[in-house]
Amino acid sequence: MSGAQSSPWHHWSHREPARPAGTASPDRRVKALVLAGGAGSRLRPITHTSAKQLVPVANKPVLFYGLEAIRDAGITEVGIVVGDTAAEIQGAVGDGSAFGLQVTYLPQDAPRGLAHAVLIARDFLGGDDFVMYLGDNFIVGGISDLVGRFRAERPQAQIMLTRVSDPRAFGVAELDAAGRVVGLEEKPAEPKSDLALVGVYIFSAAVHEAVARLKPSWRDELEITDAIQGLIDDGLRVESTVISGYWKDTGNVTDMLEVNRLVLESVEPCVQGRVDETSELIGRVVVEEGATVTGSRIVGPAIVGAGSTVRDSYVGPFTSIDRDCAVIDSEIEYSIVLRGASIDGVGRIEVSLIGREARVTPAPRVPKAHRLVLGDHSTVQISK
Ligand code: DAU
Repeated sequence: MSGAQSSPWHHWSHREPARPAGTASPDRRVKALVLAGGAGSRLRPITHTSAKQLVPVANKPVLFYGLEAIRDAGITEVGIVVGDTAAEIQGAVGDGSAFGLQVTYLPQDAPRGLAHAVLIARDFLGGDDFVMYLGDNFIVGGISDLVGRFRAERPQAQIMLTRVSDPRAFGVAELDAAGRVVGLEEKPAEPKSDLALVGVYIFSAAVHEAVARLKPSWRDELEITDAIQGLIDDGLRVESTVISGYWKDTGNVTDMLEVNRLVLESVEPCVQGRVDETSELIGRVVVEEGATVTGSRIVGPAIVGAGSTVRDSYVGPFTSIDRDCAVIDSEIEYSIVLRGASIDGVGRIEVSLIGREARVTPAPRVPKAHRLVLGDHSTVQISK
């Protein structure tokens, strides 16, 4: 992920004349459209059967950070687009009241593209402005500043960009010398810049007309990138902001460990579970309710999830142990352990991602023996 800086926001100074006549006042209602659909079948390390939006970062699904960011930006009405994994998403988010949100679920029959999601949300969105938030994206620092800027300046669309090392996996923006967006391309083979579209967009109702005109792309999806290009071609105002501190679920373990580290760095220490007197907690350590730590040393930042057991072990910095796990007679550091996994008697584990219900145990000892069929007069060297 791009490194977080003290202020992750950098605005292009792209000022245009005052907003067109007939545009509504800056305090209009803004809704949110959260995309949590897509097929649940991609072969990522840990999401081959389940929703990628529920991948945990510091023991909390990535989608929840998005919902909290939306709420913190003063938005309450949220439509969540769901697909194959609808039951899993609904089970996790419910009616949204736990987040202070009112959630409406919008079923999508197949992942027909980000703009298709806007199309099926037409009635829910009405004529309101809205934030479109891709549920597998993580924006360090939330979106309040971005929504505030949109409310103040009221462009027809506001997009976020971030510098990435391989833009071919993203929508890519081309800017002119003044920092104005002049072109957008989805997953280009030869990117015109290293500025990738981040999965958070803010639109006025003008986007619906652009979406209605779209034809499916080469990958047979209705692309939001094409809709934004349509707004630009119509001469409407599309603002961009470059941010750092961005991560998306790509199935890349190194990135995931890194975003986990970043989030753990700001957790507040809190012990709700049981820690015996032979154990030692150092630094920012969270021990959730029903967790037990015995005969162990935990050096934060680290989280031990609800109902988990840590016994006769060492848990080192930047480790998230999810709920109902067991770490016994082992050492683990800079790692993520997902729900229900167990690690028992294996020495030291570092820089690892352990999937749900995984079992890590010592290999049974095999007697050392060599079976040989050696040719006549051969010489063989065997290390002992
Ligand atoms: O994450 C940023 C990128 O997201 C942008 O740079 C690209 O311009 C944009 O097209 C999008 O690219 P991806 O191909 O990576 O999007 P993905 O298919 O992973 O979908 C993003 C989220 O939206 C994901 O949580 C699944 C959900 N989704 C996706 C589609 C295509 C839906 O809910 N419905 C859909 O039809």
